[in-house]
Amino acid sequence: MKLAILSCGPKCYSTRRLREAAEARGHKVKVLNTIKFAIDLEQGEPDLYYRQKLLSNYDAVLPRIGASITYFGMAVVRQFEQMDVFCANSAAGIATSRDKLRSLQVLSRHHVGIPKTTFVRDKKDVLPAIKRVGGAPVIIKLLEGTQGIGVLLAESVKAAEGIIELLQSQKQNVLIQKFVAESKGKDIRAFVVGDQVVGAMRRVAQGQEFRSNVHRGGLTEQVELNEEYCRTAIRAAQIMGLRIAGVDLLEGKDGPQVVEVNSSPGLEGIEQCTQLDIAGAVIDYIAAQVDFPEIDIRQRLTVSRGYGVAEIHIPTGSTYLGKSISESGLREKDINVLTLYRGTTVIPNPRSERILEPGDRLLCFGKLELMRDLVPRNTRRKRRPAVQDLPESEIHADHSEPAIINPHQEDDEKSHA
Ligand SMILES: Nc1ncnc2c1ncn2[C@@H]1O[C@H](COP(=O)(O)OP(=O)(O)O)[C@@H](O)[C@H]1O
Ligand SMILES: [Mg+2]
Repeated sequence: MKLAILSCGPKCYSTRRLREAAEARGHKVKVLNTIKFAIDLEQGEPDLYYRQKLLSNYDAVLPRIGASITYFGMAVVRQFEQMDVFCANSAAGIATSRDKLRSLQVLSRHHVGIPKTTFVRDKKDVLPAIKRVGGAPVIIKLLEGTQGIGVLLAESVKAAEGIIELLQSQKQNVLIQKFVAESKGKDIRAFVVGDQVVGAMRRVAQGQEFRSNVHRGGLTEQVELNEEYCRTAIRAAQIMGLRIAGVDLLEGKDGPQVVEVNSSPGLEGIEQCTQLDIAGAVIDYIAAQVDFPEIDIRQRLTVSRGYGVAEIHIPTGSTYLGKSISESGLREKDINVLTLYRGTTVIPNPRSERILEPGDRLLCFGKLELMRDLVPRNTRRKRRPAVQDLPESEIHADHSEPAIINPHQEDDEKSHA
């Protein structure tokens, strides 16, 4: 295959190792500096220029996008996606994982263990929020930080309030998170490639430090992850939309707690600690998957008018209970069951003879109109509310004054504050 590694640091350990591993396996590989691309948009023909020249064809792209160029880097990856080039990590996955709040929001609904976390804006909400996550000592985190910078431990509620007030006054968004004390300055880094943990290590903070990042002086030790830790790490990466990820987990008393998923995990620490060829595993995985570029299912499946994806719940007492998928008559209603979620089990492409049980959730593709009665009431929204006429009085009122657009008006497309 012909592989492009997107990186701003061609000489750094990770990039160097990935390039060597690809070359050693007989692949063509180029390290392309992410910021030297130009993204050209034209109807039907998304294109990329690299150093002012039209980019040649690549089979696969391995994005290594640093935090400082997230926006541009993601745009480049998205462009490769539009050009149907296999990208080891999706632009959406990189975006989600880079924002700690966004990541935890997505992970929490999938029942992945995470430390209790809250996000507030109003000063009055700070104190109750700290209490809700268990009081002091409490962790305060910037939404986008790496290498331990932007993660603080406040020993008292007073200190926490002060830190939060200061950060918010500097227009920083902060998370308030339960301090997982039992993990005592340690964490686990699981290196996920596809649906496997290819290497893992424990990082141990030194001295009084509670952050175990290697950049904060943390030392690494080998660790054999049990099934639960492996499963959690892999699920976290998959939910995030990342095929290659470094998942940071705390060893909580109730099991693994994901604190962060990294889309460009470093190779140096993990290779030295495990003595495993992690770079090789990454390249082998890409070579095996290169024929399956990421497809934005929602985007593709909803282009047919009236069709879409919906989740159908099978509650206790449902008429579907005890029936098989084929007996349910869903297929006759032009509804295809893509995946069945049963508790924490995920059954892709369930067989038509599989019997439905209470609590099952079916991810379906079909005619939205026919699925309307099957989706649970609380998530059901009118898809196309009719545009109503204005009352007569409004139309005839004197609107001679020019309309003033209020710059402070809330507009969810524009307000980033
Ligand atoms: N809730 C927590 N409880 C205890 N320790 C934590 C918690 N969150 C983070 N840490 C420690 O701080 C380190 C850095 O946190 P992390 O969220 O991974 O941020 P970064 O992106 O800066 O690495 C972790 O590796 C862990 O050792
Ligand atoms: Mg981390």
